Amino acid sequence: MVKICCIGAGYVGGPTMAVIALKCPSIEVVVVDISVPRITAWNSDTLPIYEPGLDEVVKQCRGKNLFFSTDVEKHVSEADIIFVSVNTPTKTRGLGAGKAADLTYWESAARMIADVSKSDKIVVEKSTVPVKTAEAIEKILTHNSKGIKYQILSNPEFLAEGTAIKDLFNPDRVLIGGRETPDGQKAVKALKDVYAHWVPEDRIICSNLWSAELSKLAANAFLAQRISSVNAMSALCEATGANVAEVSHAIGTDTRIGSKFLNSSVGFGGSCFQKDILNLVYICECNGLTEVANYWKQVIKVNDYQKNRFVNRIVSSMFNTVSRKKIAVLGFAFKKDTSDTRETPAIDVCKGLLGDNARLSIYDPLVTEDQIQRDLSMNKFDWDHPIHLQPMSPTSVKEVSIVWDVYEATKDAHGVCILTEWDEFKTLDFQRIYANMQKPAFVFDGRNVVDVEKLREIGFIVYSIGKPLDSWLKDMPAVA
Ligand code: UDX
Ligand code: ADP
Repeated sequence: MVKICCIGAGYVGGPTMAVIALKCPSIEVVVVDISVPRITAWNSDTLPIYEPGLDEVVKQCRGKNLFFSTDVEKHVSEADIIFVSVNTPTKTRGLGAGKAADLTYWESAARMIADVSKSDKIVVEKSTVPVKTAEAIEKILTHNSKGIKYQILSNPEFLAEGTAIKDLFNPDRVLIGGRETPDGQKAVKALKDVYAHWVPEDRIICSNLWSAELSKLAANAFLAQRISSVNAMSALCEATGANVAEVSHAIGTDTRIGSKFLNSSVGFGGSCFQKDILNLVYICECNGLTEVANYWKQVIKVNDYQKNRFVNRIVSSMFNTVSRKKIAVLGFAFKKDTSDTRETPAIDVCKGLLGDNARLSIYDPLVTEDQIQRDLSMNKFDWDHPIHLQPMSPTSVKEVSIVWDVYEATKDAHGVCILTEWDEFKTLDFQRIYANMQKPAFVFDGRNVVDVEKLREIGFIVYSIGKPLDSWLKDMPAVA
């Protein structure tokens, strides 16, 4: 029986291994993690991450050929194939601070593999890492090998949160990069055989190691660039009276452009886009490619600009101050159908409003109070460390209250900001919300989910990203 061990039971490792176990009953899959609470949760009825369909998959295989354990060394030493899916935070100090990936967790995982291995291993990079990380890992392993042979593969994961199980069941492609040697190709074949249990062969792409590593960074950079492009257009739409939804639709019908990923928003979030682009920028700079680095940097700058613009719209339309005013924030997750808040635009928007002395009442159907408070008091990039190593927030932000009901959040508020496109926000009773708010009552829709005309009829002053402006907002500056 082939044995797989995955180091890191996070958003990538957990769902990916659960699907491998489901689709490959003849393979034993063990997911290990240094975090005891995470493993305890994976073994309980309340999994540590919310992902539609995940519960069913885990229930079907857990205890049969899928196991979660904190005994990292035992399971690594017994495995034939080891996936590594640990944290890769952005460095906050030293060389490359603010851009380069911190490979501390990767390095310690590699050293541990070398320490405990007694048989040949295939080591698979699953978490996104800078190009040429495989080479560094290979060096650590071979310099500590004790005669054991290691093959390093890059097998980046392309799943998106909220649709992880769907994406894993039916991937656009699986990418496997390996060394172009006979042993390297044998390892590629071994991993290909795992995916071939359910992925059609023509969707399994094999490449060299560096192409696979770079493809992951490139895919995320291209996706993020589409959003920054449409968000840049949204600013121009507001200035000209065009409607960004109509522009997106019109350009998306060109088959060369395609219709997906053209929704203008308050900005992209998530654990990957910003981090991977910063990484790409750093790699370009290290290779002397300043123009290329600056080109990709602009994708992040436009994203920051979009979040700032949103805050400025709120403050300027509410008589240039939100001091002591209650603002209801609807949605905190970085997108719908996930409880994940990593790099969510809500953090910067809330911090911006708090900077202007607002009082916030936040509602999100899945994100916990503790998580929101941690996010609002944590420093940039601190989120991407194992939870028990994250600095504890000294105090919670007292101007922020977290509630479990939209109508409570909006009661007596001066304004409502929609920051996540949860389906339930489309069917809210806005008449009731309006009746209980201070007047004039404002709605700032950062996800284009509300029916602008209907809300204006009720009496709201409405700002919806990239849509023709309410006459109230026309003369108010949106750029600081
Ligand atoms: C992304 C990639 O899609 C995935 O392939 C990769 O493996 C990890 O990074 P994820 O971050 O989970 O996945 O979510 P995604 O659906 O890509 O959304 C990222 C952000 O962009 C979200 O904040 C989302 O709201 C925003 N977005 C997306 C837009 O603002 N407009 C769009 O049209 C699409
Ligand atoms: P991703 O979104 O890439 O899956 P996460 O942060 O959700 O990232 O998961 C990474 C996981 O890796 C965390 O649960 C963390 O505790 C775990 N981890 C980090 N370093 C190690 C290590 N050396 N050994 C085992 N687990 C580790």
